[in-house]
Amino acid sequence: MPQYHEANLSSKVKDQSRALNSLKEEIEAIDWYNQRADVCEDPELKAILEHNRDEETEHAVMLFEWLRRNMPAFEKESAEYLFTKGSLLDLEENTGKDTTEKKENSDNIFLK
Ligand SMILES: [Fe+2]
Repeated sequence: MPQYHEANLSSKVKDQSRALNSLKEEIEAIDWYNQRADVCEDPELKAILEHNRDEETEHAVMLFEWLRRNMPAFEKESAEYLFTKGSLLDLEENTGKDTTEKKENSDNIFLK
């Protein structure tokens, strides 16, 4: 059961917490499989571990997409940073500019 930090949470926030905690667990699994695969000397086991790592990556991305659709800040930040090229810090420096100007200056491949 999830451990909430506040009582009387809305069902929306409980679902967001479920997704956020699930994303943390998937990210942790990716890291474990990635480390194990890196040092595994048996080629078949190494391939299985790499496959499992990539499956966990799919799960993590599905959860991230759910969060993007259900938490406005994920949508906003995704539009600014995902699928861009160049310096992420340079993109951050543009955060004070209006949205139109940021999109024009972005290398986001989906905004062109
Ligand atoms: Fe998973």
